[in-house]
Amino acid sequence: MKKVITYGTFDMLHYGHINLLRRARALGDYLIVALSSDSFNAIKNKQSFFHYEHRRQMLESIRYVDLIIPENDWEQKREDIIKHNVNIFVMGNDREGKFDFLKDICEVVYQERTPEISTTRIKNHLKIR
Ligand code: CTP
Repeated sequence: MKKVITYGTFDMLHYGHINLLRRARALGDYLIVALSSDSFNAIKNKQSFFHYEHRRQMLESIRYVDLIIPENDWEQKREDIIKHNVNIFVMGNDREGKFDFLKDICEVVYQERTPEISTTRIKNHLKIR
């Protein structure tokens, strides 16, 4: 079984997220999403509209997602990949090259982002309405 993992906040879930998840799942047989916890978002200076539990509930209702684990710090990726026997690490290409250091333990794939949609864009749009 080929296992794939991806990381993110997935706040205000949108079709760009769904595209990322669908394509990531299609690379293997089992998709793990490491979902940023609220405390980790605070470290990243990010505040999500939906709290972790609500973001988790939405993600778990998506057919491409098999398992959700919390992402609590920058350092856990290597440990997660080894613990869950992950074969492929996937990120959007806005992070191109940033995770090449994991190539010694798994395949690293940067997927093209879906253009013209992001959580930030939705938030900004709602602010000016
Ligand atoms: N993603 C994507 N296409 C988009 C938006 C996001 O492929 N249009 C991917 C990101 O590259 C990442 C994952 O979805 O791999 C989760 O991204 P996240 O940062 O949670 O979503 P964004 O919409 O980019 O949020 P923000 O605007 O807060 O950065």
